[in-house]
Amino acid sequence: MGARIIGTGSAIPTTCLTNADMEKRVATSNDWIVTRTGIQERRAIKHGEDLMDLMHVASTRALDAAGLKAQDLQAIVVATVSGEYYFPSTACLLQERLGVDTIPAFDVNAACAGFIYGMSVVHSYAKSGEYGRMLLVGADALSTMVNWQDRTTCVLFGDGAGAVVLDTQPGDRGLLSTVIESSGALWKLLHVRSGHRQAFDQEGIQPKDWGIQMKGPELFKVAVRALADVAGKALGRSGLSSSDVHLIIPHQANLRIIQAVAERMKVGMDKVYCNVQRFGNTSAASIPIALDEAVREGKIHDNDIIVLNACGGGLTWGASVVRW
Ligand SMILES: CC(C)(COP(=O)(O)OP(=O)(O)OC[C@H]1O[C@@H](n2cnc3c(N)ncnc32)[C@H](O)[C@@H]1OP(=O)(O)O)[C@@H](O)C(=O)NCCC(=O)NCCS
Repeated sequence: MGARIIGTGSAIPTTCLTNADMEKRVATSNDWIVTRTGIQERRAIKHGEDLMDLMHVASTRALDAAGLKAQDLQAIVVATVSGEYYFPSTACLLQERLGVDTIPAFDVNAACAGFIYGMSVVHSYAKSGEYGRMLLVGADALSTMVNWQDRTTCVLFGDGAGAVVLDTQPGDRGLLSTVIESSGALWKLLHVRSGHRQAFDQEGIQPKDWGIQMKGPELFKVAVRALADVAGKALGRSGLSSSDVHLIIPHQANLRIIQAVAERMKVGMDKVYCNVQRFGNTSAASIPIALDEAVREGKIHDNDIIVLNACGGGLTWGASVVRW
């Protein structure tokens, strides 16, 4: 039996902020952003818009692609750090929107690695036989958590939602292995205090240490090492190696990180899916959005070996290997 991804979906905000828009806000340039990160534009929710709407659309698209209805689901897991409420969980709010009751619904908090942590949860459920058909959503709105006066972070992040529907089916296709690791010792490299939110188009007074705090260069080095190592571990656990990989769908934080990881793994960039140029770092949403695009663009075929890997606040990192 294996947990197969049988449907994918995604949704992004309509508002696009280009690097030219960033130049009007902070002392930066298109050249600096593209050279250091690869990012050309990002999507952001405006004041009054709701990330839940994007999660709902992404989930509905994934269910449609799977040929299922919400009522067919047995569990809902949402990877996010952008919940509107401390409680209920975002997953419970999504559950209400989807009109499906009594099945378990809960959130996973592992920041940008949240989707892989979610994969670990659904993988375990599938292996144990606890739940068969599950919805896993990755969604974040980090644009509301950056200090829009801080050029070192505000150019990097964007918003969005992605979803996958999994079904436990006989055969050897599906999730082969998932490895997750954390280093609480490194939490200060990337963090956001809870409590204060502000959309990019909202005026207001911000506390001094408000917004994403990041030690970029240190984080860069940890991310490259961790992403390559954990992908290798996940492949090894499935009895595979980098040479078996058809496509890597990495967390989209920085094109230079993605290229350095591919080099370390000895995988050509033609086997790496990238959309960081268009969306920036969408945190837990980045892998499911990229996966949905890759599927809809016909870049993934039956039995392909796909590697998903991510690194985020915590620090947390992880990788999943899927036989499609
Ligand atoms: C953030 C990041 C792009 C910065 O790139 P970098 O090459 O390391 O650049 P540095 O932070 O060393 O900054 C170099 C210079 O550019 C400046 N700078 C920073 N942001 C800038 C911006 N948006 N525009 C122009 N200049 C900027 C810095 O102030 C610094 O100037 P100085 O040399 O006068 O002090 C890079 O470190 C990174 O991507 N780190 C990982 C981030 C990440 O992955 N986060 C999420 C993980 S989920």
